[in-house]
Amino acid sequence: MHSIQRIVELTLLEVRNLSVSFKTNDGLVSAVNNVSFSMDSAKTLAIVGESGSGKSQTAFAILGLLASNGDATGSVLFDGNEILNAPITQLNRVRAAEVAMVFQDPMTSLNPYMRVSEQMIEVLIHHKGMSKSDAMREVLALLDAVEISDAKSRVRQYPHEFSGGMRQRIMIAMSLLCRPKLLIADEPTTALDVTVQAQIMALLAGIQTEFGMGVILITHDLGVVAGFCEEVLVLYGGQVMEHGPVDPIFTSPSHPYTRGLLSAIPRIDVATDSLETIPGNPPNMMLAPKGCPFEPRCHNACDICAEQMPALIPFSDHRLRACNRTVEELA
Ligand SMILES: Nc1ncnc2c1ncn2[C@@H]1O[C@H](COP(=O)(O)OP(=O)(O)OP(=O)(O)O)[C@@H](O)[C@H]1O
Ligand SMILES: [Mg+2]
Repeated sequence: MHSIQRIVELTLLEVRNLSVSFKTNDGLVSAVNNVSFSMDSAKTLAIVGESGSGKSQTAFAILGLLASNGDATGSVLFDGNEILNAPITQLNRVRAAEVAMVFQDPMTSLNPYMRVSEQMIEVLIHHKGMSKSDAMREVLALLDAVEISDAKSRVRQYPHEFSGGMRQRIMIAMSLLCRPKLLIADEPTTALDVTVQAQIMALLAGIQTEFGMGVILITHDLGVVAGFCEEVLVLYGGQVMEHGPVDPIFTSPSHPYTRGLLSAIPRIDVATDSLETIPGNPPNMMLAPKGCPFEPRCHNACDICAEQMPALIPFSDHRLRACNRTVEELA
């Protein structure tokens, strides 16, 4: 009893059998299929996979942000409360104060016509009932935390007066305004050059520890995951292919798709003339395959793979994999 209580207390997010589909004129798109994972407080989870694998729609479904033609089924417990398809008032409360999201393009969230100070202060006045002067103090403290130099004068500028990297820092500061328990960062560095990418990731790592919040990092770049996340969920064709702690998955990936993704990352410790790529293209989610979605691109595929999607089953310590071949059978 005692241990059950402890588990319930620690689990921040519990996603069970989450599926997302979209109605389109051409038919139904199955974007996310039966995705399950849970996350404890203050942990870091990466969701990785190629473009179209269902990463963003998983996050959007959790936060009730799907496009109007989208439909989500399953269950999402946040702090023990069901939030999937919850009433908008409940979702707004959660989105404002408990879960924040950082998007790939900061301009989708920053209002170009408002000074940074106005848009940040407004959030605190509205959601926290702060006075204008207290709100301004908090805003400056957060801009300092994300290393915007000379925050006191720059805060009065408009978003277009900042560089891309700085805008992303401002977005991160904005997402922290209500001290969320969970931050979902969807490709927060993709639009930035490599040096700025590294700075933003270092910043996020520092803030994650300082604020003690959980972070879900969505990325197609496995290279970013290694230094930042404890756990990784590998998605392909809307299905979880492999899930577990980052270190053992990086050293000995157990799924052909994870192996493919990893061999596409440049490594400074291995001399190579060229990087491997995974031949073929991600599946068309309109024609969801009966078997494993990776089968057409998998050089380990056998007859059953085209017929049957393997179950996601435990494989070694805290690891899960969905593959019809055993690890020993993989070439
Ligand atoms: N409103 C929509 N209507 C129809 N299909 C959609 C809609 N939104 C997303 N999809 C489809 O859902 C699938 C998953 O999309 P998702 O945005 O989750 O991909 P992703 O993994 O985040 O990719 P990327 O790395 O390119 O951002 C894609 O096939 C996409 O075309
Ligand atoms: Mg995306």
